[in-house]
Amino acid sequence: MPNTALNALFLTPLIWGLIGVAHATQSDAEPPLPSVEQRQQLMAIKAQAWPRPEQARTPDPALEARIVALLKPMTLAQKVGQMTQPEIQSITADEIRRYAIGSVLNGGGSWPDKNKAARAADWLALAQRYRQASLQTGLAQPIPLIWGTDAIHGHSNVMGATLFPHNIGLGAAHDPTLVREIAQATAKAVRATGIDWVFAPTLAVAQNLRWGRSYESFSSDPAWVRAYAKAYVEGLQAWTPRGTRTLATAKHFIGDGGTENGVDQGLTQTEASKLIAVHSQGYYGALEAGVQTVMASFNSWTDPLSGIRYGKMHGSQALLSGLLKERLGFDGLVVSDWNGIGQVPGCSDADCPQAINAGVDLVMVPTLWREFIANTVAAVEDGRIPMARIDDAVSRILRVKLRAGLFEHAPGDAAEAGSQQALLARDLARRAVLASAVLLKNNGKLLPLRPGSRVLVVGKSANSLANQSGGWSLSWQGDLTSNADFPHADTVLAALRKALGARAVVFDEAGTQQDPRRFDAVIAVLGETPYAEGKGDIPPGDTLRHSSRHPEDLAALRAVSGRGRPVLSLLISGRPLFVNDLLNLSDAFVAAWLPGTEARGLTDLLVQARRAKPAQDFSARLSFEWPLEPCGKGQAWPRGHGLQLAAQRGQDLTLAQLPEWPEIQHCPLE
Ligand code: BGC
Ligand code: BGC
Repeated sequence: MPNTALNALFLTPLIWGLIGVAHATQSDAEPPLPSVEQRQQLMAIKAQAWPRPEQARTPDPALEARIVALLKPMTLAQKVGQMTQPEIQSITADEIRRYAIGSVLNGGGSWPDKNKAARAADWLALAQRYRQASLQTGLAQPIPLIWGTDAIHGHSNVMGATLFPHNIGLGAAHDPTLVREIAQATAKAVRATGIDWVFAPTLAVAQNLRWGRSYESFSSDPAWVRAYAKAYVEGLQAWTPRGTRTLATAKHFIGDGGTENGVDQGLTQTEASKLIAVHSQGYYGALEAGVQTVMASFNSWTDPLSGIRYGKMHGSQALLSGLLKERLGFDGLVVSDWNGIGQVPGCSDADCPQAINAGVDLVMVPTLWREFIANTVAAVEDGRIPMARIDDAVSRILRVKLRAGLFEHAPGDAAEAGSQQALLARDLARRAVLASAVLLKNNGKLLPLRPGSRVLVVGKSANSLANQSGGWSLSWQGDLTSNADFPHADTVLAALRKALGARAVVFDEAGTQQDPRRFDAVIAVLGETPYAEGKGDIPPGDTLRHSSRHPEDLAALRAVSGRGRPVLSLLISGRPLFVNDLLNLSDAFVAAWLPGTEARGLTDLLVQARRAKPAQDFSARLSFEWPLEPCGKGQAWPRGHGLQLAAQRGQDLTLAQLPEWPEIQHCPLE
């Protein structure tokens, strides 16, 4: 049955049809009809002004015929196996074979054999074992497994891989070409480990800096998220000369960056027009670039204008099928997020017909995959999931696998397979760091530092690759690592030593052991400590005042400021924060975001090169507003702001002292 026929059979009538006609399916039971609420939501989506993406979609009859042929001999259990994505710590190669599993993932901080130091060759070996197992399920036309990973700022679970700046820093660079190159380099590193698929880019348009995933958002400006989505997907999914490609994921669909009070996985209450104008823009960019997979989001959506509550994305037929697949024409696969199905009311992590009926095709069910398979098979057998929906889901998975070249090429075929070297892209990352650091203050023209300067370095983040890299860096939350876990990397301290000479750089973390007057300048490297989803949220009601959460930074700065030498502060953070106190204690101030492994990109900006070459100039501009007040209100600087050294030659850009509010305990809720 060609896919269009499948659509005609299941999708279109189930979604748009308002008449209660039962449709023929492969099971005897009649498919459940959409509920009154679902019909209302589908009608609402249809009435909203969603533009169609400009994608050149050339239907490929040969490919569709292959899908039909592959699907035909599959048993129900094999089909459900295809739709199941366990985590690598919870499944063996033999289980992949026995259950005809279609996909695996490794979660944040999950490595082959739980070995953090696994090399590219170890990852590749595991990928090959999994693939072999997937080809031995007994199917006459075996279906290769697909492995997905969170390579979200470089191949970020793999020791020895270059880590690029997190998305917020790339947003400040305002350079889609750079993003395309980074995505290409990431795909190359991923190929070295035999992995097929990357859970990136995140296309959230973060609206509230309290959200702990703000740094995964390129910008609060939807136009830039859209431009970057396109460049990122093009770079990641570029064909290799051998006819394979790595797959990208547009995530998290939809509205993840718009939750109330910035609460992770929360409720996005916004009218449809804003969902379209803001939160959907990245998806247009990604779809236009041919993204093959979309990840459903943990958040819910309520449209206050119509009063319609769409509920959790994972259970929303209106959004996953009605909007994404029908209206936006997406013909790839929808993957659920980590146990995301379990958040749909009435579901558990191992059982959720509603999510599958809503349009989830591949289910990320990290641990309870056996139960999930049994429950889903039972739900099809007793008619709670139509067979046509299962066939559509498997067809989509097969379409994506075929388009990626997985049937023809094994992980070991890639030119980079097993190569440690392919994990590295240090020059590119250094360029990206240089392009992403925003100069916010340069009183007295402190920057650039002259070669030969002697500097005192203070602050907890000067010598910490964990702080510099943030979350999703070898571990999920970016914690539990030491500098030794990043064998090819420079801390800010190391980079300064390379730029100025080891003897000209003295490090005193608290700033209490040295007299600043023995130096030409002080460099304070301050900032947040690593976090990812959940842990990184600043609770509703708390302030954005950095010094309240990290008093050690204020203390270090107080120890060195006003002691007769100029102070440069580098803020290493996943987001703009209320830092007026730190700004006032600093002569110069640079927002370095979460630069990753290559701090030399920072020192390229800070230190004038030898032989009278001018220092590289700052070019980055804020991709988010910078808050003026502790509760996040007001603008210290608008989006688009960033100083340049060159501009300062003729002008006096001295920044006056900023207001420092008394320490506020509670901020009003939204
Ligand atoms: C995150 C996703 C990620 C997935 C797999 C989830 O908790 O929301 O962004 O891709 O885990 O690690
Ligand atoms: C995994 C992550 C995942 C998270 C979701 C962690 O244990 O390592 O990849 O996103 O759980 O809660």
